[in-house]
Amino acid sequence: MKRRLFFKNAACASIGFGITKYSTNEKSKRGIQFCFTVEENRLQFFSEVIKEPIKIVHIADTHLFKDDERGIPFHKYSNRMAKAYNQTTHFQTRIKTNPEEAFEQTLTFAKEVNADVIILNGDIFSFPSEAAIEWVQSKLKDTGIPYIYNAGNHDWHYEGMEGTLESLRDTWIEKRLLPLYQGNHPLMAAYDIKGIRFLAIDNSTYQINEEQLGFFSDQVTNGMPLVLLVHIPMYAPGKSILFGCGNPNWRAATDSNFEIERRPKWPEDGHTSTTLKFHKKVFTAPNLLNILSGHVHQNSIEIIKGKPQIVAEDNASGGYLDIDLLPMNEQDKKLIL
Ligand SMILES: [Fe+2]
Repeated sequence: MKRRLFFKNAACASIGFGITKYSTNEKSKRGIQFCFTVEENRLQFFSEVIKEPIKIVHIADTHLFKDDERGIPFHKYSNRMAKAYNQTTHFQTRIKTNPEEAFEQTLTFAKEVNADVIILNGDIFSFPSEAAIEWVQSKLKDTGIPYIYNAGNHDWHYEGMEGTLESLRDTWIEKRLLPLYQGNHPLMAAYDIKGIRFLAIDNSTYQINEEQLGFFSDQVTNGMPLVLLVHIPMYAPGKSILFGCGNPNWRAATDSNFEIERRPKWPEDGHTSTTLKFHKKVFTAPNLLNILSGHVHQNSIEIIKGKPQIVAEDNASGGYLDIDLLPMNEQDKKLIL
């Protein structure tokens, strides 16, 4: 695939939200306001609700395929994906690289910039290989940086294995991925960092269940500033079917990969009403700062009802997002708020 430069030009937007429960003073009745700028893979968010700087390194779609003898009985389920990303081209240098090298380089960057958190937002693995999962745990431990893990559609998927997507996800989270959640709920969890709440919601089946919708609704009611992490991007008009969560075109008739991925076809009738309600809830959440996702392997920004969704380049090719959440200084408050 031909690679393009990242978000090439800087952009700035000031976005107003509705009334929030977060604060009741006059100014906040206009809602959380923020400004964000983009320069290649570097994003800066400024808002008065951000009380101290937070440095985030966001990684998605590393597609590690490391394996050992424990993976031999599973070769018939892992063969295709084990060969899918063996060699890649670095998104910036154009030099040949590979997922392990790219992941290590990104962790080195996270250490250099003293990141507050590393976000692992799905498809870190091409299949649930024990060797790869142990390797990631040990590399993360070496950094000493807190991390958040959220699964993608490949992390738990052994191609051709019998079962529904939901049951296979449950099984392989339980058997292999569980330590990465550090005791948190694998399908929905809140992580508070310096006054900002990061919500990891697993939409790796493309769908959202009732419990997840209820969890998200509670977080909206709570009013704390939110960053939503989902592996599969939320639907946005004009984008491909890969923007598949809450996508009204997502259904059996538009599923062209079920044979190659050897998984059940998407449902005839498309999304459940719960998933569609989630889409609406996300883009009407007054306390949502942004959405971070992956899956597409190509960077983009979509803004729906003032809420930006940032899709990361794949880490298999060295891609990552370098994100700063920053307080707004007095001069900018006077000018912008
Ligand atoms: Fe994915």
